[in-house]
Amino acid sequence: MSKTPTTLPAWQALKSHRRSISRTPMRVMFERDKQRFERFSQQTCGILFDYSKNIITERTLDLLAQLASQSHLTVRIAALFDGGKINVTEHRAALHVALRDPKKAGLMVDGLDARKAVHQVLKQMETFVETVHSGRWLGHSGKPITDVVNIGIGGSDLGPALVASALKPYAKPGMRMHYAYTIDPRAINAVLEEVDPETTLFVVVSKSFNTQETLANANAARTWLVARLGSEQAVAKHFIAISTNAAAVKQFGIAAANMFGFWDWVGGRYSLWSAAGVSIALSVGMGRFRELLAGAHAMDEHFRTTPFKHNMPVLMAVLALWYTNFFAARTHAILPYDLRLSRLDAFIQQLAMESNGKSVTAQGHPVDYETCPVYWGGLGNCGQHAYFQLLHQGTQLIPADFVAVASPPDANASMQDLLLANCLAQMEALMRGKTAYEAKSEMKAQGLSPTEIKALLPHKLFPGNRPSNMLLLERLDPHTLGALLAAYEHKTFVEGMLWDINPFDQWGVEYGKQLTKIVEKDLANATPSGDHDCSTNGLINAYKYFRAQAKPA
Ligand code: F6P
Repeated sequence: MSKTPTTLPAWQALKSHRRSISRTPMRVMFERDKQRFERFSQQTCGILFDYSKNIITERTLDLLAQLASQSHLTVRIAALFDGGKINVTEHRAALHVALRDPKKAGLMVDGLDARKAVHQVLKQMETFVETVHSGRWLGHSGKPITDVVNIGIGGSDLGPALVASALKPYAKPGMRMHYAYTIDPRAINAVLEEVDPETTLFVVVSKSFNTQETLANANAARTWLVARLGSEQAVAKHFIAISTNAAAVKQFGIAAANMFGFWDWVGGRYSLWSAAGVSIALSVGMGRFRELLAGAHAMDEHFRTTPFKHNMPVLMAVLALWYTNFFAARTHAILPYDLRLSRLDAFIQQLAMESNGKSVTAQGHPVDYETCPVYWGGLGNCGQHAYFQLLHQGTQLIPADFVAVASPPDANASMQDLLLANCLAQMEALMRGKTAYEAKSEMKAQGLSPTEIKALLPHKLFPGNRPSNMLLLERLDPHTLGALLAAYEHKTFVEGMLWDINPFDQWGVEYGKQLTKIVEKDLANATPSGDHDCSTNGLINAYKYFRAQAKPA
């Protein structure tokens, strides 16, 4: 982009529009316009997206769409789908959309037909998953696989874990999933206590195959397996790897036949659609995995072809940007009202914050505007009894995405209505607020004295006008889930484009990794550390002292 976003005519117009729109609260907008829900909601790929509880008018959307146009979003979307090297700092394409493209050939990237390569790996996955599910893949001692351990971190864990847990009702009976992600030894220890070496498959997922946490967990698992089964040969029957780094996989001791590849044009946080999602397929089967891909592809097509004002990911992005850059919102809440989506906030947190948590443009110029807010959240119904107080009456404006599913479970189905009642009521309360007149009338009806009413009134007021989106899924099936996650991916991409940053690198995570190597050596050293700042030295020395005194617990 030649101009900085803040100098674009639409940005300037949004600034003055922001001043005028703040004079009319949302509840008044709803009172004046009985069609507001129809006007500001849409159904796409099994998802009802209601964005009517935002501080917007038609004019706001026009200006936000103009901002997208003036940021050359159409060209940028085309570049994303065509395999343009839009990850400029790493000179790579960002082609996660190719992973779910049903076309089987015809997209050349660095001399490779990306579509062809994708479908070859899908076929390889299919054969493998079928072999495991049919019981023909036998462990070292001749027993079929009953337990799968996904070893990975970040994008190599969050996506696969979210999807497998969301699609648990579709899981193949008798196939148990486990996850080892953190380097905290308690994680792998807990998994190894639960599984039987004879019937367990370890799936090591690492794009780089160079991630300390993953390699440490994989090494721990291999040592355990070889000790229990009494032979190095057992590794071939109990370990597979998913990576772009064939040499490192080989060096680890996993045979090429047990490796599934992907490509440097798939970012880690965008990789669940590739072989990095093989643990999903091992849980629900390849047919369901392909339905997940089809749902994501349906959203890709919607995103690629729909005008901005009706384009769900574009709307999600520009609405989020509206609050970040024109209302000084600093955080954004993700609030699923469905237990199966309890890891959605963690997935979106990595997606958004690792992609757009940057303060220089793609060309390396410092930005003079806010970029990615902090994404956080959790199960909305539990949040109501914890942090929702701040959402309703705190000093900050926190836009929130409520994500719910309409279809009930088989047992205790009536509780689903209670769950949704909670969700809808919270959104209504955030939007409406409660006026002094309403609060006083309520207290009067409860029989409180005028003195009590006066004292309590400030505490009983709700400012309202707090924005939220609803993403209501008809049902949580693979297709709809694929569409939902793809929508968030594209939302993140659009935000990056509008902020003129590269959402596909993550240099910010490297510095800590470098220093870890030095601290690791200092922790192994017998002599007290003196090479760091006095706080780090003090903590290293204190840890070593405590470690020497302590008994393992
Ligand atoms: O350190 C950050 C990161 O590189 C993420 O981007 C990635 O998802 C995660 O670590 C895991 O990386 P890998 O798949 O290479 O092990």
